[in-house]
Amino acid sequence: MYKKFVIVFEGIEGSGKSYHINNVSKYLSKKKIPHIKLREPGGHRNSEKIRNLILNKNLKFNKNTDLLLYLASRSENIKYLKKYYKKKIILIDRFTDSTIAYQHFGMGVNLKILKMINNYLLGTFKVDFTFLNIVDEKNMRKRLNKRKKLNRYDKFKMQFYSKVQKGFIKISKNKKRYMIIDSNRPIDLNKKNIIEKIEKLIK
Ligand code: TMP
Repeated sequence: MYKKFVIVFEGIEGSGKSYHINNVSKYLSKKKIPHIKLREPGGHRNSEKIRNLILNKNLKFNKNTDLLLYLASRSENIKYLKKYYKKKIILIDRFTDSTIAYQHFGMGVNLKILKMINNYLLGTFKVDFTFLNIVDEKNMRKRLNKRKKLNRYDKFKMQFYSKVQKGFIKISKNKKRYMIIDSNRPIDLNKKNIIEKIEKLIK
């Protein structure tokens, strides 16, 4: 038997989180370990519709609308997440910490309101472990420049990302359920460390 944990991958754009979540999903599939994987914003069908709206580069919402849209996307995912909670391993590409890091630390949205709505949506659903991917400015710039399709935040100033990343680090500080992945280090080393951690977590 293995533990049916909820495992989240967080980090700013270009930090490598999506690469690592896909690698973990491949690893679990190879081992025939049942799991689901989804991303936020997006994930479930209605949520993906909300994602298209939020990340549409021709639209610009105010910061509170942004918050409500990210939470609306989460709201559409939660029934699906609860269906598999403690039944399968759940891998999520961004979750609550992204809302705190981007909307509160990055955009200055009120943290109390954010947490109140978020807690209301989540109820008893809890994240067990988070891999926080961090990257320095030089590498972030390099990776973002390689992307063909930029979404809204990809165009933001580096200063904004720096604020968001500091926010992520603050959230994780002194908490055992976080592992910092330094994406400036060789990717194969990080891949190995993450898989080893996953093996220990679910054992
Ligand atoms: P990504 O799918 O490439 O990570 O892009 C999603 C964007 O949405 C990214 O810029 C981070 C942003 N985001 C928030 O601002 N708040 C949130 O709560 C979430 C989940 C994502």
